[in-house]
Amino acid sequence: MFLVKLGGSVITLKGRYRYYRPKAVHEIIKELKRKGEPFVVVHGGGSFGHIKAKEYGIPGEITESRKMGYSVIHRDMVDLNQRVMNSLIESGIRGVGIPPSVFNGNLQEISKSIKEHLDAGLFPVTFGDVYINHPDKRFDIVSGDDLVLELARKLKPSEVYFLTDVDGIYDKNPKKHRDAFLLRELNDSATFENIGIDVTGGMLKKANTVKDIAKLGSTVYVLNGNVPSRLNRINSKDFIGTVVK
Ligand code: ADP
Ligand code: IPE
Repeated sequence: MFLVKLGGSVITLKGRYRYYRPKAVHEIIKELKRKGEPFVVVHGGGSFGHIKAKEYGIPGEITESRKMGYSVIHRDMVDLNQRVMNSLIESGIRGVGIPPSVFNGNLQEISKSIKEHLDAGLFPVTFGDVYINHPDKRFDIVSGDDLVLELARKLKPSEVYFLTDVDGIYDKNPKKHRDAFLLRELNDSATFENIGIDVTGGMLKKANTVKDIAKLGSTVYVLNGNVPSRLNRINSKDFIGTVVK
């Protein structure tokens, strides 16, 4: 089996609130299906998650105004999940959506439920979500990348794919630097600093998560979700993306 993270930068337009990209998702699912193996999908929030999270100041302590934020963000994330589910089911994949908030963001419980669905021959689909952190009286967010790391630990997939809107991990942000260089391979023991990689924004945490997953024994591929045919070229020499072992 394999694990795939559909980044919010691919399945939504990040700058436009609740803008879903059905064609992009459809093309990705076609390639995932071609692999002919069971898989687990984790998707991000993109413009269904981050815009309102920022607006309402979530994560943060539970306050009156954040209660509406929690409600809206969860509604939007479930809506995005339903759209992904529709794309999967229309392609003949028996997917089942599993919202982390139902388990109060408890990673062990989420991954246990996902394993049970997988063992029953279903294709679990979980996603970045808000959840109530009772002990600290907070509304928190579990990211899709955190879920992928926990699932890699529990399910020991042979391969993990991270799909974003750029070709992989570069030496610096390719959207800001025209001379950015795509790193074809990354060794899990190398730190970004000592190999001179300038990872910024969302990519910094992602890059560290990817290394942690590789240490668990899975091979990780970071690739462009807008060119999903690359998912089926991972072993060819013209593969474009970053491989982390
Ligand atoms: P997603 O939300 O889809 O999982 P992110 O938006 O968090 O992905 O990360 C992808 C973005 O990270 C890219 O659009 C890119 O502009 C930015 N980025 C910053 N630094 C780098 C880097 N060194 N290599 C690749 N992308 C980078
Ligand atoms: C974000 O999940 C979820 C919310 C903001 C509720 P991710 O952090 O995994 O989303 P992307 O992939 O970066 O958009």
